[in-house]
Amino acid sequence: MSLMEGLLLQAPSTVTLLGAVLFLLVLYLLSSGSSSEEHGKEPPGPRPLPLLGNLLQLDLNRPYQTLFELSKKYGSVFTVHIGPQKVVVLAGYKTVKQALVNHAEEFGDRGINHLFGELNKGHGIVFANGDSWKEMRRFALTNLRDFGMGKKASEEKIIEEVRYLIEVFEEHNGKAFDTTQAMNYAVSNIICSIVYGSRFDYSDPRFRRSVDQANESIRLGGSISIQLYNMFPWLGPLLKNKTLIMKNIADNKEEMKELVRGLKETLNPQMCRGFVDSFLVRKQTLEESGNMNSHYHIENLIQTVANLFAAGTDTTGTTMRWGLLLMAKYPDIQDRVQEEISRVIGSRQALVEDRKNLPYTDAVIHETQRLANIVPMSIPHTTSQDVTFQGYFIKKGTAVLPLLTSVLQDESEWKSPHTFNPAHFLDEEGRFVKNDAFMPFSAGRRVCLGESLARMELFLFFTSLLQRFCFSPPPGVTEEDLDLTPSLGFTLSPSSHQLCAVSRV
Ligand code: HEM
Repeated sequence: MSLMEGLLLQAPSTVTLLGAVLFLLVLYLLSSGSSSEEHGKEPPGPRPLPLLGNLLQLDLNRPYQTLFELSKKYGSVFTVHIGPQKVVVLAGYKTVKQALVNHAEEFGDRGINHLFGELNKGHGIVFANGDSWKEMRRFALTNLRDFGMGKKASEEKIIEEVRYLIEVFEEHNGKAFDTTQAMNYAVSNIICSIVYGSRFDYSDPRFRRSVDQANESIRLGGSISIQLYNMFPWLGPLLKNKTLIMKNIADNKEEMKELVRGLKETLNPQMCRGFVDSFLVRKQTLEESGNMNSHYHIENLIQTVANLFAAGTDTTGTTMRWGLLLMAKYPDIQDRVQEEISRVIGSRQALVEDRKNLPYTDAVIHETQRLANIVPMSIPHTTSQDVTFQGYFIKKGTAVLPLLTSVLQDESEWKSPHTFNPAHFLDEEGRFVKNDAFMPFSAGRRVCLGESLARMELFLFFTSLLQRFCFSPPPGVTEEDLDLTPSLGFTLSPSSHQLCAVSRV
């Protein structure tokens, strides 16, 4: 869909819109002087139009793809104007790593767009910076570790959830169904157990509504109209999707506040049930010692909890759905995974410690994440200070996009970057091998906070489902028909599809 189509579909009056665009164009021309390069050479890039920047060159359905192509012309550090905003794009494994890891401080602030600024108000983790971000990130990491991540406790929670998920798959008796909802409920329940200390029944209408709404918000978050809103916030009142997202998120926060109120009423500092309890105890302790101005306030708690759900549910659920779709599309690879699982663990429950003995399965999971590339432009960063990088001057506060697509499909790092090839992670003897360009969780100061939890979930969900079911296209659909074109959203998910899960036991 072109930019104009995107605009017109959402706008009640084209005349009003064009009038506003012209008005802003004049303002822009009056206000923008010539951009001097007094501090040094800025990264090159396509010449921008006033106000629209390079928007007409970007495919808003696949902006990451256009940026990847532009990197081939302008190099691994280049400038692009997304509407009126100047953005520096980092492309290729070496450059992204050098920036995020070797210049972690300079490239480590979050770029906060209009929508997320409005929704998060500087609180929480994902869209926050400075001392508050540092404190919330540290607290979340410690507590997520205590309540599960990387530990036996979360292994048990995931295994318990796997059982419920298997029941849902079994109810379909081998008939084709869309796995989206069940997958999302299962991964959402892992975050619920860690955050609140308990899971919800999949039939609970409040739980279903929360998860479905959050899922819809993630999808809408990447829509063309929301991308346009972030460039031209004055379009806000004209955009249906913006109203819908704001409503969904407000409803979700209300629900969280109610759950937090319930936990507060039954709080026992000697026995924390989850992340929320720990936060409330810390808040109480600080207040009792007279510190009433700490970062431990209710807005930070709600926003952090909202971030953990938003960042931890859709990402993991979407990756799982890619995994099952790829298995249905490549039955030979599915057969090898199942042969390995049967040979190594038989019919008992898979455990985290089995991973080292399942190199092929592990390689398939890694390759799924590499090809699925679900967060193709990472989450925007911004420079925390002036920086000279690879000979280019980048001013403090410049938006930076680490183009993860260009890392996960870097032609100098992967033998066949555009095909599904588990051999990317195997040596000649079939042993699992790491590849440093495997960076779906990004890297550096902002690296995904839930990486170890996500890796554990993917391994246990994937292995347990493949042990139990054989996945195939619905009757009348061939493997070739299964479409791997992603659908547009804040994360790249498979287009809507159904699969048959036929019991193997
Ligand atoms: C397959 C699953 C997942 C993938 C691919 C993924 C990927 C990412 C990526 C690419 C980022 C941006 C890093 C950057 O800014 O450079 C991120 C950030 C983040 N992720 Fe994940 N993630 C996953 C699962 C999770 C889970 C399960 C959680 C929660 C427990 C989580 C919590 C977060 C948080 C809180 C941030 C923001 C970190 C910050 O700004 O400091 N993620 N993730």
